[in-house]
Parts: sequence; C-alpha cells; structure tokens
Amino acid sequence: MKKVTAADFAAMKESGEKISMVTAYDYSTARLVDGSGIDSILVGDSLGMVMLGYEDTVSVTMEDMIHHCAAVTRGTERALVICDMPFMSYQTSVYDAVKNAGRIMKEGRAGAVKLEGGTDFAEHIEAIVKASIPVCAHIGMTPQSVNAFGGFKVQGRSVEAAKRVIEDAVEVEKAGAFAVVLECVPARLAEYISGILTIPTIGIGAGAGCGGQVLVYQDMLSMYSDFTPKFVKKFADVGSVMRGAFEDYNRAVKDGSFPAAEHGFKINDEVLAAVTGRDGSEL
Ligand code: KIV
Repeated sequence: MKKVTAADFAAMKESGEKISMVTAYDYSTARLVDGSGIDSILVGDSLGMVMLGYEDTVSVTMEDMIHHCAAVTRGTERALVICDMPFMSYQTSVYDAVKNAGRIMKEGRAGAVKLEGGTDFAEHIEAIVKASIPVCAHIGMTPQSVNAFGGFKVQGRSVEAAKRVIEDAVEVEKAGAFAVVLECVPARLAEYISGILTIPTIGIGAGAGCGGQVLVYQDMLSMYSDFTPKFVKKFADVGSVMRGAFEDYNRAVKDGSFPAAEHGFKINDEVLAAVTGRDGSEL
C-alpha cells in the first residue's frame, strides 16, 4: 500500500483535494483511522488532556510523545503520521529542536513532526527541515502558549493580531514547513491565508476555506466531556455506546450471566478427578 507522504500534501493542495487528518494515540485507534482512508494521523500533544488527564498540554514529555507515536506507527500502513513536539522540546534552542525532532523520527517512526509557533520559530523549522525531517507548523491559537495567551482564545481578530497570523504563516512557509495548522483563526482570515500560501493549511476552528481539517478523535466521537470547543462537530456518540457497554458488563458480572459456558475452556473429567479427588463429571 502506498504511504501518504509530506510531498502528497503538496499535490493535494495543487489539485484542490481536501486533506483529512485526525488524532490518534494508540495502536488500535490508529488501525481504525488508517483503514478509514483518512490521509493523516496526528499524534497530538492533546494526548496530555484526552489520554493522561492533564488540564493542558504543558506537562507532556518527549517520552510520552515517543511512546504513543511508536504505538500509532505500528498500527498505520497508509496515513502520514505527524507527531507533535511537546512543550520545551524545541523552544530552548535550535540544537534541541533538531535533536528532539530526530528522536521522534528514529524512536517514534513518525513521517513528520509538528511544532507550535510562527516567525519566532522559523529558524528552528529551517534547521529541522535541513536535517531531512518534514515539519508541519502550527499557528493561531497554540495550546502550549496557554499561559501566555491567558486561556484558549481565538487569534487574529484585531488588525494587529490578524497581521501577526499572516506573517507567521508566510514565515513558516519560507522556513520550509510542508503544511501549517491554523487553530482558532476567523474563517475569512484563514481562507485568505490559505489563498496566499503555496503549502496547504489544515484548519481546526478555522473554517472551510483551509486545505484540510483536523479534529481530536475523542471530541468528534463524544468520548471526552471535560470541555468541547465550539468548532467540534460530533460525528458519533461513541462515549454513550462505551458507557452503555460498561454498564451491561457490570450488570452481567454481578448477576452471574457473564461469563457463559461458551466463554470458558474445557478440561477432561479424568484430569479433574485426578487433581481434585472428586468425580470430574460432577464438577
Ligand atoms: O495536539 C493536538 O491534537 C493538536 C491539534 C488540536 C491540531 O495540535
């Protein structure tokens, strides 16, 4: 099966085909996503919230990302796996950025890395790309900067803020990023940016004018109820199905209806009689 690559993203932008991307953090989910035909799997540092229960992504480590990324790549044959660089794995220096991007590729077996930040991190992106590692940038609302932003807020609404988002987009493209995630950016601004860039934009809360879309799978499947952003569409209520199944299982264990005979393993009467000293057919 032909793997989707960073170069295919450019071809999709060229032909006008929208790019589909969703997060996954484990082998079983990756297999389901990969089999669905979705183009790309993002091992997002959102795993800090939806998998590990942190209130934000700040505590996520390189070890967390590599551990989950390796599981996802083992479950993926076709989709392009992009792995997030966690907070403080690249902000500290260009050297750290290249070294840690390299670890994600070597140990996590990702096809590309993603990092948050625009103009301020253009040098870091350029150095990682020089090391032959494809980089997806992420601008607009960048969750690792939650403490600097003072919360998860839409970016680019004022003239000054909109100019900053445009400049960030242009600079990450110049630095060599093969795609850029636009998060929580007004739809018409995102459409404008998508039109002036040659690389594809991947929107999350950025409207339909982007070259592709990404969602966190627990959000789109109603599996994470701590907080649901406005931009999320719930494509299924898997959370209710799971809870219902757990309730059924709990009842079945308590009332003894599970496991039934067909869920068990047989032993012959003589063996049982020999070890218990009782007639095996009575047990
Ligand atoms: O971590 C993540 O899942 C992300 C997406 C929200 C784009 O960065």
